[in-house]
Amino acid sequence: MQKLVVEGGHPLQGTVPISGAKNAALPLLAATLLAPGEHKLENVPGLADVSMMLSLLGRLGCPSLWNGKLRLETSRIFFSEAPHDLVRKMRASVLVLGPLLARTGHALVSLPGGCAIGVRPIDQHLKGLEALGCRFELSDGYVHGRVDRLRGADIQLDVPTVGGTENILMAAVLAEGHTTLRNAAAEPEIEDLVRFLRSLGARIEGEGSSTLEIDGVTSLRPSAAGYRIMPDRIEAGTYLVAGAITGGKVTCIDTDPVHLDTTIDALRRAGCEVRVDGNAVTVERTGPLRPVDIVTRPHPGFPTDMQAQLTALLTLAQGTSTITETIFENRFMHVAELHRMGADIRVQSNTAVVQGVVGLKGAAVMATDLRASAGLVLAALAARGSSEILRLHHLDRGYEALVPKLQGIGAHICRVDSEARAPRAELHTGMSATA
Ligand code: EPU
Repeated sequence: MQKLVVEGGHPLQGTVPISGAKNAALPLLAATLLAPGEHKLENVPGLADVSMMLSLLGRLGCPSLWNGKLRLETSRIFFSEAPHDLVRKMRASVLVLGPLLARTGHALVSLPGGCAIGVRPIDQHLKGLEALGCRFELSDGYVHGRVDRLRGADIQLDVPTVGGTENILMAAVLAEGHTTLRNAAAEPEIEDLVRFLRSLGARIEGEGSSTLEIDGVTSLRPSAAGYRIMPDRIEAGTYLVAGAITGGKVTCIDTDPVHLDTTIDALRRAGCEVRVDGNAVTVERTGPLRPVDIVTRPHPGFPTDMQAQLTALLTLAQGTSTITETIFENRFMHVAELHRMGADIRVQSNTAVVQGVVGLKGAAVMATDLRASAGLVLAALAARGSSEILRLHHLDRGYEALVPKLQGIGAHICRVDSEARAPRAELHTGMSATA
């Protein structure tokens, strides 16, 4: 077991290269099942979740080679099962459901169940796939799906679910006839999936809006020329907050500023200067932080995946901020840990009322989920003294090279075995034991 040791209170300065997006990579990897042959993907982030998706594809019979670029061979599928041991570790495994049904006519996928941030049902995935002709049985914790022939349909989602939209879309591209998917999610990662599917020969219109129009095709070809995954907007947003919370100046490069507009807007309202130059975004804070009110919403609203990071930032604002979470019912797990660092936050129903404090103090804190962990790292970077962040497997799921990237902008952070104490010299030279 390892932990992060952070010596806070140092303004971060410098440039961070942004990796490929986890939440685009995972559905794209599942989508390769739709087109038999060798796929090439670029900008695949080195993350535990990506490795897990590759293991799942490997178990289905699709081997991969990953050295800089990713090559994935999907010519044959020997099994159609996403077993519990993988789905339990990564909910996004459920994204193979639509592709497996479209490719093989059957799929056995463990039900993902709830997780640290909410109940997270998949009823909308199943509703949409049923409308396309699939039949499902639920038994022993598994959903068993079958279909003879997928047929296009007019589908109205009850909630604009990201994963549900992706699963239904991936099945509809190989359905006979036309599908209209209404109240679809419009997240940039879905636009990336649409672009990828189009590069395989799929016929889809409407990405980025709440209605997707899909004309089914009989087959798709693999992405032999190589498809480049979009940059991770949540990773970029997290590093921008790192600059802001420490009163520094941080530039994220290789990013897409268009996808960061709500985060940039929140940072500006909080009193930071933000400049956009091509694919680079720079945040700079020289004055005090101002309070901000934020409500998470499906895209194009403020992303729930940036909520914990903004909560950490606003603990240091001069005044009272409110943060309302409307996507997941249990996404304030970081609040209790932020209290241990001296934050003043009251949670009332789905709103956190954040009363800014003059400073945070380092503490030992426990990460509960990926973005909560990111929020705790940010708070630790700004806190006086030393902090320890435990349960790093959450961060490994979603932040490629977190420690070296933070060291590269001057953070005093290192990763050590849980029992070990970080030597002070190591923290100050930025040398990491295991990064
Ligand atoms: N929902 C339903 N029924 C469904 C599906 C979803 O009621 O069939 C509800 C959920 O319970 C939730 C809401 O709809 O309250 C939104 O869930 P959604 O399906 O959109 O989320 P997801 O596809 O499970 C993806 C990201 C999450 C991100 C959410 C929201 C991936 C792999 N995961 O999850 O990312 O928070 O969209 O934007 O794309 C993260 O990266 O830390 C993360 C949790």
